[in-house]
Amino acid sequence: MSQDEANLEARLEGQAAFEPPESFVEQANVSDPGIYDEFEENWPDCWERAADLLSWDEPYDTVLEDDDAPFYEWFTGGELNASYNCLDRHVEDGAKNRAAIKWEGELGETRTYTYGELLNEVEAFAATLRDLGVEEDDVVTLYMPMIPELPIAMLACARIGAPHSVVFAGFSADALATRMNSADSEYLVTCDGYYRRGDALDHIEKANEGLADVDHDVSDVVVVDRLGDALEHSLADNQCDYDELVEANAGASVEPVSRDAEDMLFLMYTSGTTGKPKGVKHTTGGYLAYTAWTSHSVLDIEPEDTYWCSADIGWITGHSYIVYGPLALGTTTVMYEGTPDYPEKDRLWEIVEKNSVDIFYTAPTAIRAFMKWGSQYPEEYDLSSLRLLGTVGEPINPRAWKWYYKHIGDEACPIVDTWWQTETGGMMITTLPGINTMKPGSAGPPLPGIDAQVVDANGDEIGAGEAGYVTVQNPWPGMLRTLYNNDERFISEYWAEYSDEETDEWVYFPEDGAKLDEDGYITILGRVDDVINVSGHRLGTMEIESAVVGVEGVAEAAVVGGDHDVKGEAVYVYAIPEDDYDGDDELQERAVEAVLDSIGPIAKPEDVIFTPELPKTRSGKIMRRLLEDIASGNELGNTSTLRNPDVVDDIAEQVGEN
Ligand code: WTA
Repeated sequence: MSQDEANLEARLEGQAAFEPPESFVEQANVSDPGIYDEFEENWPDCWERAADLLSWDEPYDTVLEDDDAPFYEWFTGGELNASYNCLDRHVEDGAKNRAAIKWEGELGETRTYTYGELLNEVEAFAATLRDLGVEEDDVVTLYMPMIPELPIAMLACARIGAPHSVVFAGFSADALATRMNSADSEYLVTCDGYYRRGDALDHIEKANEGLADVDHDVSDVVVVDRLGDALEHSLADNQCDYDELVEANAGASVEPVSRDAEDMLFLMYTSGTTGKPKGVKHTTGGYLAYTAWTSHSVLDIEPEDTYWCSADIGWITGHSYIVYGPLALGTTTVMYEGTPDYPEKDRLWEIVEKNSVDIFYTAPTAIRAFMKWGSQYPEEYDLSSLRLLGTVGEPINPRAWKWYYKHIGDEACPIVDTWWQTETGGMMITTLPGINTMKPGSAGPPLPGIDAQVVDANGDEIGAGEAGYVTVQNPWPGMLRTLYNNDERFISEYWAEYSDEETDEWVYFPEDGAKLDEDGYITILGRVDDVINVSGHRLGTMEIESAVVGVEGVAEAAVVGGDHDVKGEAVYVYAIPEDDYDGDDELQERAVEAVLDSIGPIAKPEDVIFTPELPKTRSGKIMRRLLEDIASGNELGNTSTLRNPDVVDDIAEQVGEN
């Protein structure tokens, strides 16, 4: 530890609570603590405040329709268009020349789109999609990295009422095919490749491999040429060049289609307990109102701000808080193509200084990496433009929180630690930066209007100091409406645990453990299902397991998350080789390959441990908790209740060796 860090620790260590700076409170979008009571007393009509941030083609009749709970409907009867709300209305309001997207390419090139320019691009691509035959309600898959054409394509889809399904560019060909098949998606927009740490990565090859496994006809594939001469690629018969198509439609005018508030805006696949990823359905009215409202109240975004969320648009954080929320509010949103340490570990701070970023939103895993690299990197830059900091994706440990507060925020910016999920659409549990005391490590109270409670296994509210499970007892506008084509799984995954169907009381269960304190602050403890969180990325251990057991020579496998000081959790595979096989390097490599092929590099195992047996209970269940403890290097509890306690030492020894 450097002297500087030691001093910081000494001064901040004892401090468990931080007040929002006066200068922040004075200018905050929301600073009246009365908002909590106001929302509670007027629920559900309080959500009109969110809907009022949007422009509606047709006003809604009912705020919340709960006749068919938990298939709730919000702002029913209302009609609107998301692309109109994110673009046209700002242009009409005189913001035509305000920057909408400031894009920073990894190699140092930049592109700025004003609201006027972005609208033109979106219209040209919307016209292109129409030319290709895309109709309202057709699902368009977007398999793209962090290039401006991704949000352009999203908004073009929204404009013509075609839901998009964005597949994270780091996902494998298999993952693309699974998602296109599940959504019956006949259209794909992708690109030739992109840069990662200065190298030109081939992307189209992966896309083509995925397309080969799509089980229905794919009419058209649009390919963005990101790499130019850096990557030679040829286009198949049904593939066309993005620029050519868009050029042909330059200047096109495409009327935004009025969509019902409950019409699907997009699908986003995410990992759950069982094998296949689930298609989370978000709607036009509720989702957009909710992301706009939380961008306004939690991120404190003003149109004149430059705001930067360093997530990837391929995940929900990027959808809600790079694209829809910020653009609905008419602000300038920064988009960075690359990694934080390329070409140097100061890249993010250079971008903050250069763009005078006001608000910065990132993941705890990134903060832990910054800490490890050292404070000399941010210190080289003028970060005084920053007014608010945020985190999302996983619990933040108090040390990382304090480092962020001191070295990035200069003790002058509030930090919002925002708990939410793909399914919730937007933030649920967090402090309001202009109102609440901050407690490092604790996300905070539920947002106004959100009835999140920590309960025990029976669903009864727990007292302060105890640990239990997060539940949400009331619906909210940004919630998922169902799982695509799978209402049954929607109920069983999210509502079955704590709801009482007889009395029609529906309780949403997010599958997170949590602790409550005496002020009602919630500290999230992590997932209680088979989902792990690697560098803020949500991965299903069952999906990884099914990839590993598909390897010839592997008889059985168990995948768990083990603690990792930067990634939060890392993937550990424990596997039993088949009789004729040794758990040798070759089998290990094939297991790793299988995970890369089926999911992608984000799921790459930290270690693959072969063992003749997996620790099992007397009833034959694999003791995952024990495997997690071994992977994390924790002390192992009593193993005498195992059917085969002897294997534990063997396994632990191997993990120690690797
Ligand atoms: C975890 C990401 C602690 C949690 C927006 C949740 C968090 C899962 C936080 C959802 C936070 C998210 N503190 N844990 N502030 N934010 N999580 O769907 O376990 O990719 O269930 O959505 O991330 O991950 P997802």
